[in-house]
Amino acid sequence: MTKLRAAITGIHGYAPPYVLSNKEIEKLVDTSDEWIMTRTGIRERRIQKGEGLATSDMAVEAVNSLLQKTGTRPEEIELVICATVTPDMVYPATANIVSDKCGMTNAFSFDLNAACSGFIYALTTGSKYIESGSYKKVVVIGADKMSSIVDYTDRQTCVIFGDGCGAVMLEPTTDDFGIMDSIMRTDGSGRIHLHQKAGGSLRPASHETIERKEHFVYQEGQAVFKFAVTRMADVSAEIMERNKLTADDISWLVPHQANLRIIDATGKRMGIPPEKVMINIDKYGNTTNGTIPLCLWEWEKQLKKGDNIIVAAFGGGFTWGSIWIKWAYDS
Ligand code: UT7
Repeated sequence: MTKLRAAITGIHGYAPPYVLSNKEIEKLVDTSDEWIMTRTGIRERRIQKGEGLATSDMAVEAVNSLLQKTGTRPEEIELVICATVTPDMVYPATANIVSDKCGMTNAFSFDLNAACSGFIYALTTGSKYIESGSYKKVVVIGADKMSSIVDYTDRQTCVIFGDGCGAVMLEPTTDDFGIMDSIMRTDGSGRIHLHQKAGGSLRPASHETIERKEHFVYQEGQAVFKFAVTRMADVSAEIMERNKLTADDISWLVPHQANLRIIDATGKRMGIPPEKVMINIDKYGNTTNGTIPLCLWEWEKQLKKGDNIIVAAFGGGFTWGSIWIKWAYDS
């Protein structure tokens, strides 16, 4: 029997218009443009401003444009997966809200939380529904309004994160394109280094949790850095080795945009030259689930049918992984 694969047949991103520059951050906390640029590679990030706007509103922008550019009616979508750590509310799922707002009335939908690796977990999950033969049109979203959980008096975290999102369309193909392989990993013991202390069932919201600022991102940067740098590089090398891919076979590396130094280390470990590495951390910072689809969207016009792309991520949990995609269309 011919193998069904899931091909990405369209991509669209959205970043809110407000630009929060390093210069502006210098006015909020004791930091400098020079420190942020050298330690992270970030120059500016986007922030979703405006009363009543949430993660779903950014996702709606990306999904509506995706539907339009792929010529898809919203009712044709059968499944929507939204990877996010900043859902509009604890429940229902943001994917449900996006489905409603976009008119994807025939889809079942759910959120997936794997922190910064959420988009690649969701892409892998969505591809399995396609490969099963039961689903023909799946939308996978990576979206985060990180500004809603960042403490703008904490210089260790507020310089890093930004808001943004992207969405892809997955459809079946019997050709040798699409999601070719993936490796996903988790190590829950890493949760001590990167988490949000309150707001869950362990520490429900209270006056005390708010006073202690426990609803913001807590990150031990150096510890996370150490794991990220080895895990992301190792898993990317592993997916190449097990598929007998050499650096020459790879057209693009799409790394999660957490820190330019982590990105550089991953590229070096894989033997991929810098010009083949997608980098937009300077413009958007770390948008958590938004980083990878935002890269693919920005580079879409340069992608060619048959391009071998390695996508890699590392994030809270810890979670990490890598996907080999054979790009399915010329833009
Ligand atoms: O996406 C999810 C996964 N997350 C990651 O992959 C993030 C991984 N971690 C990192 O990217 C880096 O650890 C950070 C960017 C968060 C921090 O960079 P670092 O080079 O590890 O800095 P550090 O935490 O070791 O701090 C070095 C110094 C400290 O001062 P002392 O103790 O040496 O005097 C910090 O207090 O830099 C200080 N510092 C700052 N100085 C100016 C920390 N943040 C800032 C800041 N501006 N914003």
